[in-house]
Amino acid sequence: MSADVEDAKVLLEQIEYYRARATEYDDWFLRLGRYDRGEDATRRWFAQVEEVRRVLAALALDGKNILELAPGTGIWTEELCDRAAHLTAVDASSEMIALNRERLGERAENVTYIEADLFEWRSTQEFDAVVFCFWISHVPLRRIDEFLAAVATMLVPGGTVFFLDARKEHTSTAKDHVLPASDEEVMTRRLDDGREFAIIKNFWSAPELEERCRRVGLEVHVHETADYFQYGVGTRLE
Ligand SMILES: C[S@@+](CC[C@H](N)C(=O)[O-])C[C@H]1O[C@@H](n2cnc3c(N)ncnc32)[C@H](O)[C@@H]1O
Repeated sequence: MSADVEDAKVLLEQIEYYRARATEYDDWFLRLGRYDRGEDATRRWFAQVEEVRRVLAALALDGKNILELAPGTGIWTEELCDRAAHLTAVDASSEMIALNRERLGERAENVTYIEADLFEWRSTQEFDAVVFCFWISHVPLRRIDEFLAAVATMLVPGGTVFFLDARKEHTSTAKDHVLPASDEEVMTRRLDDGREFAIIKNFWSAPELEERCRRVGLEVHVHETADYFQYGVGTRLE
């Protein structure tokens, strides 16, 4: 099987995984069930979530036209929707979009949802800010430069980019998941009912991500919290 075909197969399975996982997705963020790694880990997780929330809250996003990629159930959409002049949210899963809408309630009136594959979809407009949380790790190595270049083209010059993802910390994922070795990018994920899916999971070093962003015209600083999160904050160069 060629690398392209193999790649496309995993990316389709990754979409299927998130469609099937949608109703149990928040257990990961809330540290419930298979994601409960004990009291101390949970306390550290939420303290670090707060740290990231404060960074996002301090960004100049109020009144801006924001694009959120892969918004999922809306954990971060909720942080953005009231601040944005308008929010556009693009996700391949109709199940995720439905849960996102439900979480936002009336506030979803300020959101345009688009069901699309991010490896194909491109916006016809530029945004003041592009945000993607827990998405960049799911972009294959062979497609990362193309993805970051697309982000740059969807931003106005001087526009803001913010992304967030997981650090390689084994207690971040479920008890029955094994993180990929450093030379691998495919991992097996399980649902509560035991079904298994192959997905992409990459862990980038901060300097490498900064350099790849720089090459496509994004000046980004990548930071890490003590255990769990890596986030990037930056702008499109003029
Ligand atoms: C790890 S979740 C992140 C959700 C949310 N941003 C968060 O932080 O909780 C990944 C999201 O990417 C979506 N997704 C997976 N493959 C996709 C693709 N090819 N195009 C668009 N969305 C995709 C999934 O449906 C899911 O909502």
